[in-house]
Amino acid sequence: MSKKIIRFGVIGCGLMGKEFASAAARWCHLTNVDFEPKIVAVCDANSAATQWFQDNIPSVEAAYTDYKELLANPSVDAVYCAVPHHLHAQIYIDIIESGKHLLGEKPFGIDQEANRLISEAIIKYPNVIVRCSSEFPFYPGALQIFQWVHENKFGKIIEVEAGFWHSSDLDPTKVINWKRRIATNGEYGCMGDLGMHVLHLPMRYGWKPKSVRALLSKIVPERPDGKGNMVPCETWDNAILACDVEMEGQQFPMILSTKRIAPGNANTWFIRITGTDFSAEFTTKNPKQVASLPYKPGGNQAWHVVDAPYKSAYGTITGGIFEFGFSDSILQMWAAFCDELAHGKDTQQPFYCATPEEAAGSHRIFTAALESNRTGQTIPINWRD
Ligand SMILES: NC(=O)c1ccc[n+]([C@@H]2O[C@H](COP(=O)([O-])OP(=O)(O)OC[C@H]3O[C@@H](n4cnc5c(N)ncnc54)[C@H](O)[C@@H]3O)[C@@H](O)[C@H]2O)c1
Repeated sequence: MSKKIIRFGVIGCGLMGKEFASAAARWCHLTNVDFEPKIVAVCDANSAATQWFQDNIPSVEAAYTDYKELLANPSVDAVYCAVPHHLHAQIYIDIIESGKHLLGEKPFGIDQEANRLISEAIIKYPNVIVRCSSEFPFYPGALQIFQWVHENKFGKIIEVEAGFWHSSDLDPTKVINWKRRIATNGEYGCMGDLGMHVLHLPMRYGWKPKSVRALLSKIVPERPDGKGNMVPCETWDNAILACDVEMEGQQFPMILSTKRIAPGNANTWFIRITGTDFSAEFTTKNPKQVASLPYKPGGNQAWHVVDAPYKSAYGTITGGIFEFGFSDSILQMWAAFCDELAHGKDTQQPFYCATPEEAAGSHRIFTAALESNRTGQTIPINWRD
C-alpha cells in the first residue's frame, strides 16, 4: 500500500516529545493505514533534548533551539508541540499562523485567556487542522464505553464519575519541577495538568455542566529544589469537582477528580457511568477489563467483568488476547491525528482526537472551579458565548 508521508516537526523534546518519536518509530505496528508520520525536524530550548532525537531517530534532518526556525522550514507539514503550559499560547499561535497543522498538548493554554487567544488563531486559519493530545479514550475498554453511550444503553443516567489519579507526589522528597509552579503550570494546578484527560469523553458526549462546586487541596506545601533548599510547591495537588449536567431532558451529577496525590495510583484514568438500564466502568488500573451491569426491572443486579480483547480503533499486528497499554494508546491517538491530516473528515474510523472546542470547554470548567474554591459557592457555567 502506498502511504502518504506526513513530515513532522517536534517542538519540545522532553517526556512527551519522545513518546511521539517512539510511536512514529513503530508505525509498522499498525495494519491497513495509508499514512505515516516522519519526524524530520526537532526543536528544544535545551540542545541535549534534541540530541536524543538525532541519536535515535534517523529521519531527523534538522535540529533547532529556536522554534521559529523550525516553523520557517518549508519541508515541515505538521507540528507536535509539547512544552510547558506558559508557552502554549505563543507557540501554538505561531504554529497555526505558519500554516502547519498542530497536535498540541493539553491544557491548550495556561489559562482561559491564553486558550481564547489560541481559539482566535484557529478561527483565522480554517485550513489548519488543530487537535489536542488526549490518549486514554483510545484504550479498547474506554472505546467500548464510548460506544455504549453512543448507543444510549444506559437508560436514565444516574451518575457519572471520571478521574485521573497519580501518586508520586505523596513523596515529600520528590524534587520540584515546572509542573508544581504557577508561573509555568498555571493556577489550575492538577486540573490543567490532568483535567483534559478526564473531560475528553464527557465533552465528546456533550455533557456540559451547568454549574460546578470545587474542592481543591494543597497537600505538600514545599519541596526540595534539588540544590539543597526547600521551595514553595504552589499548585493545587488534588481537585474534586461536583458538576451538574443537564441535557436532553436528563439531569445528573458528574464527579470529576484530578489527583496528584492519590496513594497507590500510578497513572489511573477511569470512567464509571451508572444508569437505570445499564452501568459500566473502565479503569486503566485493570486495562484488560471492562465491567458492565445490564438491568431489567425486578432482575438481578450483577456486574459482569470481561477481559476486553485488544480491539483498537486502528488495526494492529497484535493478537486479540494480548494486553493494550499506555504506549499503544499514544500510537492510536497519533493514527487518529494522521488519519485526519491524510483524509480530512473521511477518516477510517469515527473516534477522532480531542478538539480545540473540547479543550476550551475544559477551560470554562477549570476557571469556574477556581472561583468555586475561592468563594465556597457553586458557580454557574455559561456555555452560550
Ligand atoms: N498526553 C499526556 O499524557 C501528557 C503527559 C505528560 C505531559 N503532557 C503535556 O505535555 C507538555 C509537555 O510536558 P512534558 O511532560 O513533555 O514536559 P518536559 O518538561 O518533559 O518537556 C518539555 C520540553 O520543552 C522544552 N522547552 C521549554 N521551553 C522551550 C522553548 N521555548 N522552545 C522549545 N522547547 C522548549 C524543555 O526544554 C523540555 O525539553 C505539557 O503541556 C504537558 O501538560 C501530556
